Amino acid sequence: MTPLANLQNHQIRLAERPVGVPTRANWQFTAEAVAEPAEGGVLVKTLALSLDPAMRGWMNEGKSYIAPVGIGEVMRAGGVGVVVASQNPKFAVGDTVSAGLGVQEYLSIAAGDIARSGLVKIDLRLGSLTQWLNVLGMPGMTGYFGLMDVGQPKAGETVVVSGAAGAVGQTVGQLAKIKGCRVVGIAGGQAKCDWVVKELGFDACIDYKAGPSAVKDGLKAHAPNGVDIYFDNVGGEILDTVLTRINRKARIIICGAISQYNNTTAVQGPKNYLSLLVNRARMEGIVVFDYADRYPVAVAEMAAYLKDGRMKSKEDIVQGLEHFPEALLKLFSGENFGKLVLQVAKG
Ligand SMILES: NC(=O)c1ccc[n+]([C@@H]2O[C@H](COP(=O)([O-])OP(=O)(O)OC[C@H]3O[C@@H](n4cnc5c(N)ncnc54)[C@H](OP(=O)(O)O)[C@@H]3O)[C@@H](O)[C@H]2O)c1
Repeated sequence: MTPLANLQNHQIRLAERPVGVPTRANWQFTAEAVAEPAEGGVLVKTLALSLDPAMRGWMNEGKSYIAPVGIGEVMRAGGVGVVVASQNPKFAVGDTVSAGLGVQEYLSIAAGDIARSGLVKIDLRLGSLTQWLNVLGMPGMTGYFGLMDVGQPKAGETVVVSGAAGAVGQTVGQLAKIKGCRVVGIAGGQAKCDWVVKELGFDACIDYKAGPSAVKDGLKAHAPNGVDIYFDNVGGEILDTVLTRINRKARIIICGAISQYNNTTAVQGPKNYLSLLVNRARMEGIVVFDYADRYPVAVAEMAAYLKDGRMKSKEDIVQGLEHFPEALLKLFSGENFGKLVLQVAKG
């Protein structure tokens, strides 16, 4: 094994803020020596990183639920890795961990930064490394708490979820089925629609790319009793169309609006919001980090579903840190099929 002092940490930093779709010029590729951890510190080698639509928002200037990534800083990313050096009695060399590792090969975490980095051990008996970035990780937690806490599904209700074949969407749809709901997905393309119906057991799926009235017609056909819960991952026109089909006391979970993230003009808000008034419905946003103290409960439940086969998970794995800039764009073109993961090193 190479001594730590001789290791280079390759990193990807934000060089400039993008306008519209990010380009390779927005990134800077750097390398520096790996720092041995001091008293109480831990050195983690990155194995895989979670590529998330939210990364596009973190590249922007301005106030959000979390500070933007600064120019020149290593790009923020959640990930899973292995402890390669430790001066901390709670973490041993060889432990598999999850943390905010950043888009880089190593993260040396000082004793005082351990809590802030989110460093926790993960148990590979509950799920694979990439499942810990998917169903058992941040997207899975988003789907779980968004649906269960904000949506409050009841058996027999109709749940519609957009981005249905993506990371959050696949969890939401399967969980809603487990809770006894009728589930209609919305996804781009026949292959994704076939997968959520045939493999994940959704009742139906609407290919929103099939034509201008595909969502409207699809909802009439597949949600004939109206929509009780809409889990919105995409915003824009799809949200507007679903609003025309909601039931009295419907719950709309605003999880994300990926159709708007690369806009160079103002975000398109819902034109049909008065449907909330007519139907005494509510629309509520969710930020997954608010539920961090309850993750262990959700992880235990989801791990049990993975084990008994009621929950499946699909990850789309891109190899190599250097491919981060292009890999990230797959989320916005819809090229990712399942949770998008960047594999940085072998375990
Ligand atoms: N609030 C929170 O705490 C939280 C946490 C995690 C994620 N999120 C949000 O949840 C959403 C899903 O995230 P994810 O990680 O699960 O990503 P994902 O669904 O795995 O990947 C993104 C997908 O969005 C779809 N998409 C892209 N552009 C679109 C457009 N213009 N119109 C409709 N669909 C489009 C594509 O699927 P198709 O091929 O089907 O178009 C793409 O595969 C995002 O909006 C994200 O920001 C929120």
